[in-house]
Amino acid sequence: MSSARPDIVVAIDGPSGSGKSSTSRGVASRLGLRYLDTGAQFRAVTHWMLSHDVDLADPDAIAARAAEPQLQSGTDPLQPTITVDGEDVSVAIRGEAVTAAVSPVSAVPEVRARLLDLQRRIIGDGGIVVEGRDIGSVVAPDADVKVYLTADAAARAARRAAEEGGSDLAATQASLASRDQIDSGRATAPLVLADGAVHLDSTYLSLDEVIDKIVSLVP
Ligand code: DC
Repeated sequence: MSSARPDIVVAIDGPSGSGKSSTSRGVASRLGLRYLDTGAQFRAVTHWMLSHDVDLADPDAIAARAAEPQLQSGTDPLQPTITVDGEDVSVAIRGEAVTAAVSPVSAVPEVRARLLDLQRRIIGDGGIVVEGRDIGSVVAPDADVKVYLTADAAARAARRAAEEGGSDLAATQASLASRDQIDSGRATAPLVLADGAVHLDSTYLSLDEVIDKIVSLVP
């Protein structure tokens, strides 16, 4: 394990399936840093909304309850955890129901404001790798290292389908494309290439190669 400045912040943004989670966890464990998966937080809020029968077609209904779910994110890169109202939801948030609903919930400004506050508190004095869509642009615009990680659409769908235990490739690609469109097109904190971000295409790189490249950017 190498070491990094104890207050370092590494922001890793990009679309679904670009390899952000494995990469971010790998960078954090190599450098002895904490790890925050902000996508898991949006998924956890979505899970809470679904289990409280909130009408997810109604942004006002989502906004009205955005302050209620109590989230806890564990930041060990070898064993990240997430609970809502004390319940471990790390498995449930990866299910189809949450995946289908998470992009519209994430587009609601009240949900984003709530999580932005929580994310900044967890980042605190740094020593962390944070992954998401708006980390380098909104959550931590002063991050020491900003990476925009992409891969081509077919590679992203193949990775995601394999992670999901071999689900249908065409359906996975369609679901990714629809989430990309919502995540990049929303009015509040869309997925963008942040100022000062290094664009890294992981299509033809192994996980270790991507981690090496990011570690080499860390001062
Ligand atoms: O990284 P992921 O696929 O688990 O993220 C799930 C959803 O959460 C994604 O479709 C968009 C949203 N998200 C977001 O809007 N902002 C973030 N910083 C992280 C995720």
